[in-house]
Amino acid sequence: MTIFDQLESEVQSYARSFPVTFNRAKNEHLYDLDGKEYIDFLAGAGTLNYGHNNDVLKKALVEYIQEDGVTHGLDMHTAAKAEFLKAFNEIILAPRGLEYTFQFTGPTGTNAVEAAMKLARKVTGRNTIVSFTNGFHGVTLGSVAATGNSHHRGGAGVALGDINRMPFCGYHGRDVDSLKMMDKLLSDPSSGIDLPAAVLVETVQGEGGLNVATNEWLQGLEKLCKKHDILLIVDDIQAGCGRTGTYFSFEPAGIKPDIVTQSKSLSGYGLPFAIVLLRPDLDIWEPGEHNGTFRGNNHAFVTAAAAVRHFWSDDSFAKEVVEKSAIVNEHFKKIADRIGVTRLQLKGRGMMQGLSCQNGDIADAIAKACFERGLIIETCGSLGQVVKCFAPLTIKKEELVKGLEILSDSVNEVFKDEVSQAS
Ligand SMILES: Cc1ncc(COP(=O)(O)O)c(C=O)c1O
Repeated sequence: MTIFDQLESEVQSYARSFPVTFNRAKNEHLYDLDGKEYIDFLAGAGTLNYGHNNDVLKKALVEYIQEDGVTHGLDMHTAAKAEFLKAFNEIILAPRGLEYTFQFTGPTGTNAVEAAMKLARKVTGRNTIVSFTNGFHGVTLGSVAATGNSHHRGGAGVALGDINRMPFCGYHGRDVDSLKMMDKLLSDPSSGIDLPAAVLVETVQGEGGLNVATNEWLQGLEKLCKKHDILLIVDDIQAGCGRTGTYFSFEPAGIKPDIVTQSKSLSGYGLPFAIVLLRPDLDIWEPGEHNGTFRGNNHAFVTAAAAVRHFWSDDSFAKEVVEKSAIVNEHFKKIADRIGVTRLQLKGRGMMQGLSCQNGDIADAIAKACFERGLIIETCGSLGQVVKCFAPLTIKKEELVKGLEILSDSVNEVFKDEVSQAS
């Protein structure tokens, strides 16, 4: 019996899929205690877009620590925070024509979502928030209420309220216009749907199965929010920081959300860090009203600023991500064509693509076969039916291809009857 079996709670999840003890990690690789190398297509569930222990970020962090830079500073002003604000504003926001005030929240994604929802309610004086089918926003009470998945909702133990659920883009099939339906419900004083404070949306639903909102749908959603005077919150915690090929996932749609949440890959180094970006006129918080001891993770400020400067000062990194996304897409198309599109369907966009299987057992079997071959990959979706390729964006192309070939072999193993019939 391991120390984990003896002492760690049953709540563990990823540890069950990858039952080894990891010890070292570098860029796209993890190593277990025996020194076995694994290609990492999980990337901390989207937290390690720049890979494990990225050298540029590590150097900045080590120098800062050696100079005894402030580590914990509540929300006090520090040089590290000033440098993060400057870098993010100059390199990310200004060139995209975005003007936001930064709110530093507790360092998890769910805390940023809680803050965004609270602020929307406070600004509008309304209770409800609209969130979407298959959306995932975290597991604290406010954010889990906005989350669709019954497994996570069931853990709350209290009634989850003040949310109205609407169908996400394509939920009822591409022929059903879910925005038209939403507009009617919001326009009809007798529909029973109260005017919400905000709409909370992911542009690509990460945990919910890599469901993609089209640009037209996002543009329509922005218009609908303006029409009904509702705030638009984009939860870019998983799809942001370059995962879909642009820094913010909503850039191709050309929309300007009122509020954006960011976490996961924001620090770039796996250090906990979350922010809410808000339209400046929405900043009606009272001092300390949404509080938190760990709002000032200065180590994360240092690595986040270094990540922004190193990866986003020009468009070369974004281009690299687009190239790698095309490699993933090409491999996935080949796999799906071989097995048959009725059995495997392509999901997602950018470097958040996946293969949707007919059920969760098939997806689990593929992920398990991958792990046996040295590839770490997880599943997502309402039934865990989507095998989710989430490699670090910095992965070397050869390793990306190697990982995709392992995935292809694993799919062949799981569908061996279909493959042998075809050949
Ligand atoms: C879109 C989205 N929002 C919020 C969260 C919650 O973040 P955290 O797990 O850091 O609380 C997640 C986590 O997967 C997420 O994918």
